[in-house]
Amino acid sequence: MKPRTREAPAAAGPARIDWYDVPRLYDIVFDVGTRAEADFLEACARRYGRSRGQRALEPACGSGRLVAELVRRGWTVRGFDRNAHMLAYARQRLARAGLVATVVRGDLADFRVPRRVDLAHCLVSTFKYLLDEQSARSHLECTAEALLPGGIYVLGLHLTTYRRTTDERERWVETRGGVTVTSDMRVGRPDRRTRLEPVVTRITEDAGGVRRHYESTWDFRTYSAAELRTLIAAVPALELVALHDFDHDLAQRSTWTDGRLDKIVVLRRR
Ligand SMILES: C[S@@+](CC[C@H](N)C(=O)[O-])C[C@H]1O[C@@H](n2cnc3c(N)ncnc32)[C@H](O)[C@@H]1O
Repeated sequence: MKPRTREAPAAAGPARIDWYDVPRLYDIVFDVGTRAEADFLEACARRYGRSRGQRALEPACGSGRLVAELVRRGWTVRGFDRNAHMLAYARQRLARAGLVATVVRGDLADFRVPRRVDLAHCLVSTFKYLLDEQSARSHLECTAEALLPGGIYVLGLHLTTYRRTTDERERWVETRGGVTVTSDMRVGRPDRRTRLEPVVTRITEDAGGVRRHYESTWDFRTYSAAELRTLIAAVPALELVALHDFDHDLAQRSTWTDGRLDKIVVLRRR
């Protein structure tokens, strides 16, 4: 579901945006982890991949931070996203850095690639934008089809505990080029029946003494560990080969029962 953006309170200098319609703000917050994530992706490819090439696919590539980083490291990269602002930003970033990659419009639930890849990845819970079982399964099937035999899919998402009675909150504050962005994300109570949880992200931009507030809301699909395992099992072309957490440390294996909710599953094309 596309984030819906509400106008900020009048005192804050209202501005209507959508989190993903303003890629520079998104990028300031998320670019900080890019190198560590790229290190982890490369380590996963070496450890779990069997196809050994350096061709990568990033479904929902957003601002292109990981596209650019993997190209810098010698990968041939294709990324796609449904948001035109994100795509424009990604292309501009690549052009400015003199890097070459293919960045196109596409949908997570239904895509094809012209050449199969060794590595596909989709981190930071983006997979949860697919709001029903059919589209989530279709995404995994399209990804399997995009992978060479032995190629891997590194998928990161935050799991849900349905017994949770309070909101979950995550806050990031990052500064770049004189702009400070604060992102305050609140995830409301999950609904076990609809498999949805409401997300509200409040974004504050401080630049040149001016402060702006934005608010973006959307729904995520929920996954308990069991629900995620059931979905993976429904796509026989992919086998689950490893489970990690968001520490991006290959030496640290995770388990389904370790109580940690941030999971990275590594799936391999049979
Ligand atoms: C959290 S950002 C992740 C961007 C990038 N992968 C990264 O790690 O920085 C989520 C992205 O998913 C895109 N997106 C959400 N739903 C999508 C869909 N159904 N198809 C394609 N892109 C989608 C948004 O436009 C946004 O750019």
